[in-house]
Amino acid sequence: MATWSAPGKVFLFGEHAVVFGKPGIAMAIKPRVYVTVRKARNPARVNSPYIESCFEEMGVTGSVYIHSQLPSSSGLGSSAAVTVATLFAINDEFNLKYDRNQLASMAYKIEKKVQHGRASPTDTYVSTFGGLVLIKDNKRRRMPPENFNIVIGNTLVSHKTTELVAMVSEFRKNNPLVVDPILDAIEAVTTRSMHNFHNLKVLGRYMDVNHALLEALGVGHPMLSRLVSASRAAGAYGAKMTGAGGGGCMIALCPKRSKSKVAGAIEAADGRAIITTIDTEGARKEGENGRENYLKARR
Ligand code: MEV
Repeated sequence: MATWSAPGKVFLFGEHAVVFGKPGIAMAIKPRVYVTVRKARNPARVNSPYIESCFEEMGVTGSVYIHSQLPSSSGLGSSAAVTVATLFAINDEFNLKYDRNQLASMAYKIEKKVQHGRASPTDTYVSTFGGLVLIKDNKRRRMPPENFNIVIGNTLVSHKTTELVAMVSEFRKNNPLVVDPILDAIEAVTTRSMHNFHNLKVLGRYMDVNHALLEALGVGHPMLSRLVSASRAAGAYGAKMTGAGGGGCMIALCPKRSKSKVAGAIEAADGRAIITTIDTEGARKEGENGRENYLKARR
């Protein structure tokens, strides 16, 4: 039996613009998915195309138990985390000896197959390697970690990343003169943010700007605006939607002392709050007591 876990992710800056080759910054976050795999000749059927594809890809059969701290379909990369943790657990249980890079590529391939062609290479990369990740020239690399205090607000409004990405692409195709400057401005905010990681007030201001630019791209939602405004009023340095938009989640960058207040304001505005920070580990083997670790982390 092998238990592995993998973290979720948020985009700090640059979502959507990265689809057009612009830079972006993503970060692994503490909520994780825990997956236990055990060899089995005739395992019970699993109800997840991601997990089925993991076993298919690795050419083995086994039973699987999942415990997730990540809400699904909310833009926090839960399908990538499930896929990554499952591949690492299978690799370990069957002693297949793939390395971290190979498993990251395999996870992306599986996400693409299950999602019929479009998947975020960022989600699987961040979940595999953890930390703060710069996306530049369509490549991803880890940056030195930063201990940002982040509160996530889940709107509980489901969204479809593929549709939102297609919508922005269509908007751009028909209105390049309008959309290209918005993408350029997102690029400028992302690039400038890297020079201000220690100036949280400025970084928060850039998040506000990035949020407005995403709204200009047409991927806003009234619930996102509501949670973003509530966070700012409760003392966040800044706040923005994270991921594809159209629902899903927002993030607020907070002074340490205001985390609980911001989380309370998000809940009062009918969102679900998660107080979090960076996860530097990526996919991680859990001890014999993987399930106990999960339960401990929940307490
Ligand atoms: C979704 O989490 C982020 C997008 O930029 C899509 C992607 O990066 O693949 C909208």
